[in-house]
Amino acid sequence: MKIQKVAASFKGACALSNEVPEWKKKSFGKKATLSIQKQRQSLPIFKLKDQLVQAVKENQILIVIGETGSGKTTQITQYLAEAGFTARGKIGCTEPRRVAAMSVAKRVAEEFGCRLGQEVGYTIRFEDCTSPRTVIKYMTDGMLLRECLVDPDLKTYSLVMLDEAHERTMQTDVLFGLMKQTLKNHPDMKLIVTSATLDAGKFSSFFFEAPIFKIPGRMFPVEILYTEKPETNYLDASLSQVIQIHLSEPPGDILLFLTGQEQIDTACEDLYVRMKSLGSNVPELIILPVYAALPSEMQTRIFYPAPPGTRKVVIATNIAETSLTIDGIYYVVDPGFVKQKVHNSKTGTDSLVVTNISQTANSVKWSPSAWLKFAFF
Ligand SMILES: Nc1ncnc2c1ncn2[C@@H]1O[C@H](COP(=O)(O)OP(=O)(O)OP(=O)(O)O)[C@@H](O)[C@H]1O
Ligand SMILES: [Mg+2]
Repeated sequence: MKIQKVAASFKGACALSNEVPEWKKKSFGKKATLSIQKQRQSLPIFKLKDQLVQAVKENQILIVIGETGSGKTTQITQYLAEAGFTARGKIGCTEPRRVAAMSVAKRVAEEFGCRLGQEVGYTIRFEDCTSPRTVIKYMTDGMLLRECLVDPDLKTYSLVMLDEAHERTMQTDVLFGLMKQTLKNHPDMKLIVTSATLDAGKFSSFFFEAPIFKIPGRMFPVEILYTEKPETNYLDASLSQVIQIHLSEPPGDILLFLTGQEQIDTACEDLYVRMKSLGSNVPELIILPVYAALPSEMQTRIFYPAPPGTRKVVIATNIAETSLTIDGIYYVVDPGFVKQKVHNSKTGTDSLVVTNISQTANSVKWSPSAWLKFAFF
C-alpha cells in the first residue's frame, strides 16, 4: 500500500505506465559493452586532451572544472603521464576520502594496463600500495600534507593535482597554504586544482589568479522525478521507494542518500526486515551501507557487482556524492538532507547539523550512460 502511495506521488513516473521512453531504451546499459579504451575515448575530457596538456605546460597552476563523470580524476593524470611529465617526478593526486583514493587508483591501474601498486598506486593512512615504479599516485589530502611536512618542496613530484578542492577541511586548507610555498620554491612543479564550478573563481584568486580550464559536457541523460509534496517521514518514504524500484523497474542498482551512520544502520535493518516480510518469491536485494567511519574493506564491498538475478542497494552518506563511480547504479533516491559542519563562533566549536541541500548540490556520480532518478521527498 505504502509503496503504491509513494509511487503515485511521482509526477509522470514511468513505473506507472508501461511505456519506456526512447532515450531510456537507448542508454540503458549500453556502455558496459564498450572496451575500456572506447570508454576512455567517449569521455567529454578526451576531446580536450591536447588543449589540456598544452595549458598545463604553459601554466604553473591550472584550475579545472567539469561535470561529474567527465573524466577529471581518472584521465588528467594519465594524459600528463603520456605527455612525459613523469620524467621529472611522480604525478600525485589527492582525494578527500580514502575510498575514493583506493577505487580511483584501481580503475586507473586497469586503464593504464598495470597491476595496482606498480605504475599506478595509492597511499592512505596505514596502507601504502605503491612501489619504486609508481608514477601516478592517488592519496588522501592528509597523506600529502604529511609528505609536505617532511619535504616541503615535494622534490619527488613533478605535478600535484588537488582533486575536489572545494571539499575543504582543516587539512586541505593547510595543504593549500603549504603548496603555495612549494610552488615558489620549486618552479618546475605544476599544480592542478579541480573544484566545483561555483568555487573555481575563489581558488583562482587564491592561487595567483591561475587560469580556469572548463570541460563542457555531460555523459548521458538523467531523468529527475520529484515528489509532489514533502514527505513527513522521509526515511520511511525513501525505503518504500527503494523497494518500489526493486520490484517494478528494469535491472540496475540503487543508490540511496541518507545523512549519517546511525540513520544508515537503522535504514539497513529496516529495509532488511521489510524485504524479509515480502517472502521468498521476490528477487534478492543486497543491502550495502557506506559511510566514512566504515572500515575500508567494508567500503569496497559496494563496488562488487550484484550476482545475476539480484540487485544491490548502496545506502550512503554524501561520501558517494562525487569522486566515486559505482558501476551499475541506475537509480538514485535522494531525500535531499545532508549533515553539514557548522561553526559556532560564540563557542568556537563545530557541530554537524542536518540541513536541506540545494538543488544544484545534487550532483551525484552515476555509472556510464545510466539514467537515474532523483527523488526529493
Ligand atoms: N570504477 C569505475 N568503474 C567503471 N567506470 C569507471 C570507474 N571509475 C571511473 N569510471 C568511468 O570514468 C568516468 C570518469 O570518471 P572520473 O572519476 O574521472 O570523473 P570525474 O570528472 O573525476 O568526476 P567527479 O567530479 O565526480 O569526481 C566515469 O564517468 C566512468 O565512465
Ligand atoms: Mg573526480
